[in-house]
Amino acid sequence: MIHIPVLLKEAINSLKIKKNGTYIDGTFGCGGHSLEILKNLGNLGKLYAIDRDPYAIKKGKKIVDKRFSINYGNFSDIKKYLNKNNHKKCINGILLDLGVSSVQINTAKRGFSFMKDGPLDMRMNDKIGIPAWKWLKKANQKEIEYVLQNFGEEKYAKKISFSIVERNKKKVIMRTLDLVEIIKKSIPRKNKFKHPATRTFQAIRIYINQEIDELKKILDMSLKILKKKSRLVIISFHSIEGRIIKDFFKKNSNIKNIPKGLPITEKQIKKYNNKKKIKIIKKIKPSKIEIKKNPRSRSAILRIAEIL
Ligand SMILES: C[S@@+](CC[C@H](N)C(=O)[O-])C[C@H]1O[C@@H](n2cnc3c(N)ncnc32)[C@H](O)[C@@H]1O
Repeated sequence: MIHIPVLLKEAINSLKIKKNGTYIDGTFGCGGHSLEILKNLGNLGKLYAIDRDPYAIKKGKKIVDKRFSINYGNFSDIKKYLNKNNHKKCINGILLDLGVSSVQINTAKRGFSFMKDGPLDMRMNDKIGIPAWKWLKKANQKEIEYVLQNFGEEKYAKKISFSIVERNKKKVIMRTLDLVEIIKKSIPRKNKFKHPATRTFQAIRIYINQEIDELKKILDMSLKILKKKSRLVIISFHSIEGRIIKDFFKKNSNIKNIPKGLPITEKQIKKYNNKKKIKIIKKIKPSKIEIKKNPRSRSAILRIAEIL
């Protein structure tokens, strides 16, 4: 089972790697991006890789390189893993390749896939928190509906959440394909381009792993640890994450409260400009060739910002 890194060349080029710089790969996964960063680093360079999945950490430990360290936990806890010296704006670049890896999805016992039968778990770190089935069992209909609507943009959130709660009263939903059947029965119209369980599975996974909170925290944290002229490079796979990144980029790159219609001095303009924390560089989507080779990349968007 392999994971093909998405937008590999584009992400590495966007980091503008300095030979002796210090970098963070917040989502090590199977190490595709990390290995490429290491290739571009000189002898004095440093790469801190992080993953919350114990299986990814096992893989990371196989990389023996004095420039590299693999750290087990959430990327929002980034400060914990850095040297004391790296705490204050000493990082030259952060890469995040959000979501789950192909290995996680394709391992049936992890419970991420609506195509394979497995226990309904969905935890990226299966050593902490509660599996999806347990949450579905204890949550009420409104809570489930909220999650499906907000993290999956599921049109039929009400119907699906209602069926989940009703079914759990009779027999607890423990398996992925059990949930798929319930979803299929609750959806009146099928979309021929999308599996009916796509949105529900995405929503439950995001909720169980607190992915939205994690993303918001690392974005704020990045401004505290990234150096001037360093790069923040993020690959996201759905519009909910995309919107959070876009809003963060916009908020921190806009000149706020600049008085309209008044004459304004150069000094004042400078003052307003100083409030800008980042410059948005661009966004990149995978090429048709990449999508053909790796269909998982089809919904990926790479967003790049530079710290001012
Ligand atoms: C899409 S994969 C990354 C693949 C990697 N770039 C590669 O080329 O192999 C995402 C990885 O990030 C991890 N992950 C997701 N959210 C995380 C978080 N908040 N903290 C730490 N790791 C996280 C997942 O466990 C998964 O292994």
